[in-house]
Amino acid sequence: MSTAQNRVNSRITKSWAMYHRALELIPGGTQLISRRPTRFAFGVSPIFATRGKGARIWDVDGNEYIDWVSGIGAILLGYADPVVDEAVKSQIDQGTNFSITHELELELAEELVATIPCAEMVRYTRSGGEACAVAVRIARGTTGRDKILFCGYHGWHDWYMASNLSAEPGLDEHLFSGIEPIGVPRSLKETAIPFPYNDLNTLGELLDRNRGEVAAIIMEPFRSELPPDGYLAGVQRLAREHDVILIFDEVTTGFRLATDGIQSVVGVVPDMSVFAKSISNGYAMGVVTGKQEVMSPAAQMFISSTYWGETVGLTAALTTLREVKRRNVPAIIQHIGEQLKSGLSEIASEIGLPAVCKGASIHPYLEFQIDDAETKTKLNTLYIQEMAKRGCHGYTSFYLNASQGDAEITQTLEAARETFTILADGLNENRIDDLLECVPKQEYFQRLVH
Ligand SMILES: Cc1ncc(COP(=O)(O)O)c(C=O)c1O
Repeated sequence: MSTAQNRVNSRITKSWAMYHRALELIPGGTQLISRRPTRFAFGVSPIFATRGKGARIWDVDGNEYIDWVSGIGAILLGYADPVVDEAVKSQIDQGTNFSITHELELELAEELVATIPCAEMVRYTRSGGEACAVAVRIARGTTGRDKILFCGYHGWHDWYMASNLSAEPGLDEHLFSGIEPIGVPRSLKETAIPFPYNDLNTLGELLDRNRGEVAAIIMEPFRSELPPDGYLAGVQRLAREHDVILIFDEVTTGFRLATDGIQSVVGVVPDMSVFAKSISNGYAMGVVTGKQEVMSPAAQMFISSTYWGETVGLTAALTTLREVKRRNVPAIIQHIGEQLKSGLSEIASEIGLPAVCKGASIHPYLEFQIDDAETKTKLNTLYIQEMAKRGCHGYTSFYLNASQGDAEITQTLEAARETFTILADGLNENRIDDLLECVPKQEYFQRLVH
């Protein structure tokens, strides 16, 4: 192991000092686990940002990066999009939070109902986790049942974390292993039950075993790979047979695949679906949509917050949705994803590195085809480290946005050529440990396929 490990690279000295100060003031150092610097090349990747524009961000040390994580998926048009930001600024001039309902609440509802196939009624939140919690509350309230079957990641709230109160922690396969459900009421045990992706038999068995007790199936319809033929239709058939509400969590897929989300592409219209992140190009906003028969009982439920009708989020969502359609963002993203996949895979094969970039073009990922899990993690980290030094910030999976274009692809593929050469030489000469300037990254999210 290199003696350089755990030392900080001189390019991020300010970030590094700020991070250690933050650890004293902010438990965990940051608000989002996916932003923890140990998820990247710890001591080499940037930690604190100052600004972003288009496809790029700048850190507190003055380094410029192409951001291949797009605000952990929240940025869809690009950082500081002029159209969205202009709309937001002009709304700020007219006031943001009122004692009566603002007209934008209705205008956005009409846009959503005209856009999203399952949307007949809508509610708003400020984040994705909140939107999932509201959807689950509505499903429980509408059906009068308590249990929830889930697949994928759905935020931090008690209803979801309750899954880890069971003897076999339910989140191991859907989030990451080792999460203690600290602070989650023990009385919620057995109320949130995980089911594996692409396994209709197990889902059917779970529904049979909990017959009459399940309020909803909530799932990420897919993440890095498009769903296998017939799978989502099979989930819907089971949901209908058991009279259970089907909720798609479209927070991560968002509007990258199609301008109306994923429902028309996968050919399944669920009872409800939730959106956040890219729906508002980074501004705080979440949306719960659904069929009238499922949503309307929410009028009798206590689901209420001062900030859910705040106009910055509403304006940002309305403008983003319209811009996604006007610019045909899914076509742009598809093109970038295809270039990235073919470019990275070709360079790896030319250099003789066992790596391939694959998955859905809207969310591709780089896979090192190495059996040994420890070596694989080290290669992932070394890739992140060397790409960061060459001005490309990210992990081995890519969140795309519509400001990434030819310049970003060219710079990234040049950086990848140098990086892959270092990795291939390191593998051949058995020197990966020496090349690492940091501890191997911690693998957090392992849900679904990636
Ligand atoms: C599918 C999915 N659902 C819910 C969430 C939670 O969203 P937020 O972080 O805005 O609470 C995320 C966040 O990554 C997500 O990917």
